[in-house]
Amino acid sequence: MAPSTFSWSNRSYSTSHQGSTPSKVDLGNKDTTKVDGNKVHLRWIDGTTSRFHSFWLRDHCHCPECYHTVTKQRLVNTFKLPRTISPKSVTATETGIDIIWDHEDHKSHYPYSWLNKHSYDPKITDPYKPEGAPKITWDKSIAAHLPEVTFKDVMDSDKGLATWLNNIHVYGFSFVSGVPVSTEATEELAKRISFIRETHYGGFWDFTSDLGHGDTAYTDLALGAHTDTTYFTDPVGLQMFHLLHHDGEGGHNLLVDGFHCAKILKEKYPKSYKTLSEIGVPAHSAGDASTHIVPSPRHNPILNHDPATKALVQVRFNNDDRSTLDHLDAEHVDAFYEALFDWNRVLTHEHNLLWTKFQPGRVLIFDNWRCLHGRSAFTGKRRMCGAYTNWDDYRSRWRTLNTTAEQLAEEL
Ligand SMILES: [Fe+2]
Ligand SMILES: [Zn+2]
Repeated sequence: MAPSTFSWSNRSYSTSHQGSTPSKVDLGNKDTTKVDGNKVHLRWIDGTTSRFHSFWLRDHCHCPECYHTVTKQRLVNTFKLPRTISPKSVTATETGIDIIWDHEDHKSHYPYSWLNKHSYDPKITDPYKPEGAPKITWDKSIAAHLPEVTFKDVMDSDKGLATWLNNIHVYGFSFVSGVPVSTEATEELAKRISFIRETHYGGFWDFTSDLGHGDTAYTDLALGAHTDTTYFTDPVGLQMFHLLHHDGEGGHNLLVDGFHCAKILKEKYPKSYKTLSEIGVPAHSAGDASTHIVPSPRHNPILNHDPATKALVQVRFNNDDRSTLDHLDAEHVDAFYEALFDWNRVLTHEHNLLWTKFQPGRVLIFDNWRCLHGRSAFTGKRRMCGAYTNWDDYRSRWRTLNTTAEQLAEEL
């Protein structure tokens, strides 16, 4: 099966003002703006009328007195504004509407593009629209065109870095070729995105199969597809691996697109999809004497959705780190195991397994909220280094590199 575009939302919004088209009004028409009770009406050129509560407008004034232009934080004291505030005058100008308020004669200016973007009655732009390019889900056929960038491009230019991060956004992973075979270069590469996330395993890791920590990652055993740190309240966002040395056999890398598998589960076993989206699973990390980590909330579903958009946002699955299921109601026990078996069937289906060979000089990075990883058993001495990155910091870097500052400011 070829990679396919993941559909995120069924919402649709009515008018033609989608996207970043500059919004227009008819300046010659006296009905373009109107105050009606506690609302200001604004008629767009296509006849659509947006209605804004006066208090909402005053609360969102972005003049330098009300909004810090650099920190982009609210300065106006919302709680000192009269709840009955009303415009003394509303004037449509070339760029937006000017309002003089009946409280302290405060003057506000609202650009049309901002009003159009944030119009809520009616909603013109979908406030829940997913960011950036559509995600492309994949099965093992992606092996023929693996997303890849060069170390030089990433280190030398923001454009190279933006391409790398966009690969991770779209596919959930990317390779980086031409990386010097050293911990220093690998660490520098990780830090191009953001600071490294420290955990109980340390910051930047450099490890062998010597059981340096009480976790199967530090052994030579085969590992089934899993996501890391299911036991954290906020699981790590990105994970990077670089094989520095291996003098034995095996140890191939497995990647599985959790979003692709979730889509298949939903199509083939909808009841199981629902079960794994609703029933929380407890997890723990307690392999080191000084560590006993459990997340808060204690139980998190394997498939996690945005409550507003209903879109799948995070896969959290490591069957080895699962704690005792004593919280299940008796009538849910069989349903849970049934769903877990269906999920495992999809995850381990040969079609969905992307096996690649680790090579010194070729770094793999993947989205730990989407892709599951594993490995085959190996022999010999193997030295691997890598790092974790926080999800929010990766997304922030991706966002600022792929969108202009003006566009981002207007989002707020
Ligand atoms: Fe892992
Ligand atoms: Zn103001």
